[in-house]
Formats: sequence, C-alpha cells, structure tokens
Amino acid sequence: MDWGMKNRLSRIIRPDDGRCLMLAVDHGYFLGPTERLEVPRKTIAPLLPYADSLMLTRGVLRTSVPAESHVPIVLRVSGATSIIGEDLSKETITTSVEDAIKLNASCLALSIFVGSKYEHQTLANLAKLVDEGEKYGIPVLAVTAVGKEMARDARYLGLSCRIAAELGAHIVKTYYCDNFEEVADGCPVPLIIAGGKKLPEAEALKLSHDAIHHGAVGVDMGRNIWQSDWPVAMIKAVGAIVHRGADPKEGYGIFLKEKEKDKSGQKSPQKVVKTVGRSASFD
Ligand code: 5RP
Repeated sequence: MDWGMKNRLSRIIRPDDGRCLMLAVDHGYFLGPTERLEVPRKTIAPLLPYADSLMLTRGVLRTSVPAESHVPIVLRVSGATSIIGEDLSKETITTSVEDAIKLNASCLALSIFVGSKYEHQTLANLAKLVDEGEKYGIPVLAVTAVGKEMARDARYLGLSCRIAAELGAHIVKTYYCDNFEEVADGCPVPLIIAGGKKLPEAEALKLSHDAIHHGAVGVDMGRNIWQSDWPVAMIKAVGAIVHRGADPKEGYGIFLKEKEKDKSGQKSPQKVVKTVGRSASFD
C-alpha cells in the first residue's frame, strides 16, 4: 500500500489501537434538515473534539466546519436522491475526486444498495470510486444501505459487505445484526457499524460494544449521539467503549457521569421531520 493511502487510513482507524470513532452527520444529503441536525454547525461544534473523524458532505463541510479544524474528513460523495423521490437506491457520484482533494478529505464514502433496483449502478459507482481513490491514495468507505424489502440479517449484510470489499472498498460500514461475526469473518477489510435509529443510550452503548466484540473495528455513529439529550456525554461514553475497552455497564456509567457536566444538552421538545414514504426506508 502506498504511503498516502496508509497515512490517510491511519487518520480514520487509529494505529495505536486499530479502532475508529467516526461521527456521522451526512444525513441531510437525502433527508434534509434531520431532527437535531437542523443547523449542522451547532450540532457538530461541541462534538468535534471527541470524534476521530467526521463523515459529511462537501456542502456541510464548507459551511459548517472551521477550516482550521484538525479532524479527518470522510467525505460522502454519493447521493442525488431524496427521501420523497422515486428510489433511494438511484445514487450517483456527486463529488469529484479533485474537489475531495481540495477539501483535504482523508476518505471518500459512498452507499451501495445490494438487491435493489439500482444495485448495478451503485456497485459500478463503488468500483469507479475505488479506481479514483487508488489513483490519488484516498481510501473508500462503502456504506451498505438497506432497502425496506431487505432483511437486515447476517446473510444479507454479509453478502453486501463481501461484495463491497471485493470491489475494492478499504473500509465497509454496515449494521449490527445477530451472528455479526459471520459478517465480519466474510469481510476481509475493516468493518464499522452505523448506529441506526435513536435508541435509549444504554442500548446504543451495548450495540457499540457488541459490534466491536464480534469483529467491528468501531462505529460510524450519528443519531444515537446527536439525537441524545446529552450528545457530548454520549460521544464520550461511545469513545470509552471504542478506545478504552469499557463494557456496556461502564460505558453507561460514564454517560451518566458526563451528562451532569454536558452543557450541550438540548432539553427542547424534538422537532419531528416528517418523511414521505414512497422510497426505501432509512433506519
Ligand atoms: C446514511 C449514513 C449515515 O451516516 C449512517 O447511517 C450513520 O448514521 P446513524 O448512526 O444515524 O445511522 O450513511 O446513509
């Protein structure tokens, strides 16, 4: 592996422990102003010191993250669909590798939709992006998106993750499921998990712990951090699980302790952004 590729990967997966805490704030690329991410700058700022890397689109990066920030950027470069559109799987590559280089991206992220109507298009997008990334030493994170008709089980996720790795993805993001070790065993590149829909904090911490215990190298977590009433406490607790080997009980203890100090807590009622369900589901 070339020096540039190794160097960028080491900014995403920490070389000291081989783990990764990526903060996902890319949801607006098809969901619009997602609850508690309505003003991205406000959501991101308090969490930035605790994230190993930040996953987002170029629009939010340019408008909502200080250029002086040292946090490595995982740039979402697929999209051009919306939650009210025909089909979420009809994604294309939305950002050139030249623009990603201008933005000093450490990694490129793109979704694949295995088993969907536009499966071929999204897999071809991945293969093309890997070619581009290899040219410039930029790793690619493949996100295994799940359509509403797909079972989120080890068989389906294992298939998606393996295909992503076979097409050259350097890191794969998927969902946690029963028998997750089968998914991890069949995927020859590092796996990270999405958090999914907001859960009670204790459950989200257990999910993070179990995924790592069964073969993930870390998390790419969004809503379970910034939709918490205590997002800073939550990211610190997730960090303890990812990097310090805390078990779910210790992680939750850290959350409870930190929430007393968490000035970023949002006590206002949550705004519900209604989504119109013609497309594949997102959770
Ligand atoms: C959307 C994504 C999100 O970044 C991903 O799902 C992680 O966020 P969350 O933890 O909220 O699920 O890739 O396609």
